[in-house]
Amino acid sequence: RQCDTHIFIIMGASGDLAKKKIYPTLWWLFRDGLLPEETYFVGFARSSLTVETIRTNCLPYMKVADGEADRLSAFFSRNSYVSGKYGDEAAFCNLQTHLAALPGGAGANRLFYLALPPSVYHDVTKNIRHQCMSARGWNRVIVEKPFGRDLQSSEELSAHMSALFSEDQIYRIDHYLGKEMVQNLMVLRFGNRIFGPIWNRDSVACVVLSFKEPFGTQGRGGYFDDFGIIRDVMQNHLLQMLCLVAMEKPASTSSDDVRDEKVKVLKCIAPVSLSDVVLGQYVGDPGGEGDARLGYLDDPTVPKDSSTPTFATAVLYVHNERWDGVPFILRCGKALNERKAEVRLQFTDVPGDIFSAQCRRNELVVRVQPNEAIYAKMMSKKPGVFFSPEETELDLTYHSRYRVRETSMYHSRNRVRETSMYHSHNRVRETSMYHSRNRVRETSMYHSRNRVRETSMYHSRNRVRETSMYHSRNRVRETSMYHSHYRDVKLPDAYERLILDVFCGSQMHFVRSDELREAWRIFTPLLHQIEKEKTPPIPYTYGR
Ligand code: BG6
Repeated sequence: RQCDTHIFIIMGASGDLAKKKIYPTLWWLFRDGLLPEETYFVGFARSSLTVETIRTNCLPYMKVADGEADRLSAFFSRNSYVSGKYGDEAAFCNLQTHLAALPGGAGANRLFYLALPPSVYHDVTKNIRHQCMSARGWNRVIVEKPFGRDLQSSEELSAHMSALFSEDQIYRIDHYLGKEMVQNLMVLRFGNRIFGPIWNRDSVACVVLSFKEPFGTQGRGGYFDDFGIIRDVMQNHLLQMLCLVAMEKPASTSSDDVRDEKVKVLKCIAPVSLSDVVLGQYVGDPGGEGDARLGYLDDPTVPKDSSTPTFATAVLYVHNERWDGVPFILRCGKALNERKAEVRLQFTDVPGDIFSAQCRRNELVVRVQPNEAIYAKMMSKKPGVFFSPEETELDLTYHSRYRVRETSMYHSRNRVRETSMYHSHNRVRETSMYHSRNRVRETSMYHSRNRVRETSMYHSRNRVRETSMYHSRNRVRETSMYHSHYRDVKLPDAYERLILDVFCGSQMHFVRSDELREAWRIFTPLLHQIEKEKTPPIPYTYGR
């Protein structure tokens, strides 16, 4: 029989990640009614804390709206806290007693979130395994990067984990896999007829995956200096996006079918060599404001002679039949001019040009953040009496198409429907039904809107008045239909989706151990060489 009670245990409850991300995420899920009814939250850390202090510390990050005070109290009434040392078996015995004493606790399903520094991973996982597992319910362990710092250390960690837990109990988070547009890559590619035939080396000239942040290490210099931008962003977030762009169509959308295909892509990528890489490190901008005046080396937690890169570009090749020879350019950096993450496919020139070299290459851009969008750069006839090509965009910007709302503002009636979708065991089936229902509506709405426009363009002058009356009358009706279907679309935060997935037992958006191994195989020789030779990064100015 399935257990109704769930306990979410936050190991490292006093830390930054717990305060800024995990507690707020649990609150949003609880607030929106997305968690199973009987869910309890238990914090564990070394300091002697109370739920009240946790509440005070987390509050600035929880985006609590007016009128949510009761709900917030209900959330914290489900919270408790146990303190103990990470290496101390007796402390975990004590935690087990506490878990078992919660209503339905002895047989509850348990989710252990490790918001901890890697130095205590070994002890904590061992103690969880030996002292705190639920005997009747399921047990799942959620872990965050860093998963080691190179192939060898990662393999050691994986071996340790797999001795304690089975792969289906381990949820390795790469939070980019929880982002709307990253998840959309698969739907876009495999749910459309138009992209499949051109998604290969015959038509794609190059693929650019980029991550830019407009701020520096923000006091995390100590952590960052030990890792650098390649480990922090490229080896995980960008490489995951690359896999989703490059992989073959999986046999199904089941977690393992999807991850099997991602692993195959990684296996076709040779280790990156230094000659295919450019490294940078930011320096202060004397004319800038605030933090911008400070370079990476001005961070007091960073060694004065550090050569750790804060920017990197690397070119990777996927040596298979689909992609041979197509460069995948990965770019990531801190202290750049803007915040942006995107995937950009540039297509090849049109063969047999008849427009006197006036055509630019097509590009398909999936903008992950900010302001989610998919747009295609394409040539179109310059409107009017001309007959020359002009570059324009087919644009699906989520903000205007779906009227996306902020998480904190989300309180729609649709919530109930969504919630029941999440709770159902048939989530996958319902979700795809939901999508196809909406596809039909979207398609027909889109057609009718565009038909009206076409009509007004092609018909004679005399018809213009009529047409525009028709147009405006119908626009009102269409617009209100449009609104009733798309109002209040909420894009959950990546962590909300991922934590919900752990409750649902879906591992599709989590990193499997063989994926991790391959990712480290690709970058480890480069990382070792950079560290050994202290490859000097090229200085670049903050914000430029
Ligand atoms: C993290 C990195 O994984 O991702 C950070 O450690 C980075 O350095 C962050 O700032 C970016 O995440 P997001 O969701 O803000 O793009």
